[in-house]
Amino acid sequence: MTTDELVDIEIKLLMDGVYQVYGYDFREYAEASLRRRLIQWLSGSGFATFSLAQSQLLRDRVFFDSLLRGITVNVSEIFRDPAFFKAVREHVVPYLKTYPFVKIWHAGCSTGEEAYSMAILLLEEGLKGRFRIYATDINEEVIRKAQDGIYPLKEMQRFTKNYQQSGGTGSFSDYYTARYEHAILSPSLRENIVFAAHNLAVDGDFGEMNLILCRNVMIYFKQPLKERVLGLFDSSLLQGGYLCLGTKESLYQRQIAAHYEAITARMQIYRKQYANK
Ligand SMILES: C[S@@+](CC[C@H](N)C(=O)[O-])C[C@H]1O[C@@H](n2cnc3c(N)ncnc32)[C@H](O)[C@@H]1O
Repeated sequence: MTTDELVDIEIKLLMDGVYQVYGYDFREYAEASLRRRLIQWLSGSGFATFSLAQSQLLRDRVFFDSLLRGITVNVSEIFRDPAFFKAVREHVVPYLKTYPFVKIWHAGCSTGEEAYSMAILLLEEGLKGRFRIYATDINEEVIRKAQDGIYPLKEMQRFTKNYQQSGGTGSFSDYYTARYEHAILSPSLRENIVFAAHNLAVDGDFGEMNLILCRNVMIYFKQPLKERVLGLFDSSLLQGGYLCLGTKESLYQRQIAAHYEAITARMQIYRKQYANK
């Protein structure tokens, strides 16, 4: 048996153990990227092999949390893919405005940038007091950061550019206060956002959403897990509601695709059809 084959067996055993002990299911994550990230984590763990690390990982929650941080990719940006947010303003907001109150779910929200971007967009579109955003992630540490809404000041130039390109109608600097090396987002943006831990691989659905966004999350999943998660979204989304995926993801060949209409060619915005159509 080669060393690589042995490593694959160790990873499989470890992922089974992690699922049984902590309930986090990484068994359906795409192998190549999971393997790469685990090996990177191992090199900084102080252990020579996954088998040696396993005993502590299954007994020590704090140590396991370091593994969790290593596995999940938490990169995000305010108004990431500005053209996407522009398309939301153009195609989705008119639908949201037809409701007195709307519910939005950001699944895999990481450190909160996407949810804050949506709050800014909806406020600028006149929906103050008429929306609630549920922003969830598997990783509780990023949820805590999201709740703080504090980002490195040096990112603000890029975020401001994204905001402007996304069709922002005000001045981005009105949404944060600079303090030393940090930008603190205006607490009023948080008023309509509920941040919570939620694991798409094992947890249940959220009811009656008008809009669900899950961008740059399912790229790390194998096909059966993608199907599970899309089923979860389908049962959480109202008829006529919108589902948004990342620019490298799509509903192509997915089970739920027949009930969804692609709204834009490039931006992966889909509308759930009404049942009688
Ligand atoms: C690359 S970030 C994407 C953040 C944001 N949606 C964006 O596009 O900027 C991927 C996020 O998915 C989260 N994630 C990974 N597996 C998950 C799962 N099973 N359930 C919920 N979130 C998960 C990670 O913790 C990470 O924060």
